[in-house]
Amino acid sequence: MSDAFRTVWWEANALCLIDQRMLPADEIVVRCTSVADVATAIRTMQVRGAPAIGCAAAYAMALEARNGAADEAPAGAAHRLIERLTSAKELLDAQRPTAVNLSWATARVLNRVRRLNDPTPADIARYTLDEAHAILEEDLAMCHAIGRHGVALIPARGHVLTHCNAGGLATAGYGTALAPIRTAHEQGRPVHVYVDETRPFLQGARLTAWELQREGIPLTLITDSMAGYFMRRGEIDCVMVGADRIVANGDVANKIGTYSLAVLAHAHGIPFYIAAPSSTIDGSLPHGDSIPIEYRDPAEVTMLAGRRIAPEGVVAAHPAFDVTPSELVTAIITERGVIYPPYADQLRRMTPG
Ligand code: MRU
Repeated sequence: MSDAFRTVWWEANALCLIDQRMLPADEIVVRCTSVADVATAIRTMQVRGAPAIGCAAAYAMALEARNGAADEAPAGAAHRLIERLTSAKELLDAQRPTAVNLSWATARVLNRVRRLNDPTPADIARYTLDEAHAILEEDLAMCHAIGRHGVALIPARGHVLTHCNAGGLATAGYGTALAPIRTAHEQGRPVHVYVDETRPFLQGARLTAWELQREGIPLTLITDSMAGYFMRRGEIDCVMVGADRIVANGDVANKIGTYSLAVLAHAHGIPFYIAAPSSTIDGSLPHGDSIPIEYRDPAEVTMLAGRRIAPEGVVAAHPAFDVTPSELVTAIITERGVIYPPYADQLRRMTPG
């Protein structure tokens, strides 16, 4: 069954997360009871992947409302609680700037309570939690819809290359780029996934390989630098990856290394597909150059599994995402269907309100 593990869930008044830093060796559950706990989990990548951090942040807002409703004295309590939620949103949004699902989710929760007519703190706590549940459920439904629409793009031989982890671990479940692959496998169609290891955080080697193996989907793990070799040998039929932000003209931010793959795919005449829910569309930015790119600690590059791999004192850079121009994107798969270039008008219609 495809949703055999949980990534983000609410249990006993806490947000529970599977600690993605520990996979595949250990399946450890992290229990968050405050907005600070969730902010830390997002920053340290205990939870990661654009839709999953959006879901986690929505629950963080619910935790803040719940904790605040207990703290605030009655006079002006609702007003102060909404101010606390506004500050919580700022804190959460700052943790990972590239994935727009994060600020989309916190804005959605905050707007839900701002629209309430004369709420009590208890109302605010209840509605924030309801909205977080809705965001989680909708994300799962969107991933399944992406699978249904995208399966038609999986070529007959089924050799798909993917990068990073855009699977169940990166979403409420089922995944985005992995959704069409899963659906093809469920339909009994041949599929074989070439999994980029995805330096430096190794989301491919640790997480995508773990997910696919659990599902019995055939895979070959390769290093990022091997993609061109396998493309030139004719072993890759298409590339399918997720997205952290798709802007108005169709440019796409995704895990560092995605742009190189798109250039390679173009050079070899291989289709390059993006799979993402509409919560990843940011119509407010005109093109990819305006997307904020997260720079992470260079130690993630100079160290591997807790051991230094570069000489002491070496300067390293770590942009965690890059931008693929829309000209290199063959199609975008969303929960509403598959869209082809030119993207601008179609994306405008899908941009969340
Ligand atoms: O740094 P990460 O692991 O959060 O980056 C994740 C990605 O780049 C994914 O491809 C993207 O978020 C889409 S996940 C469905």
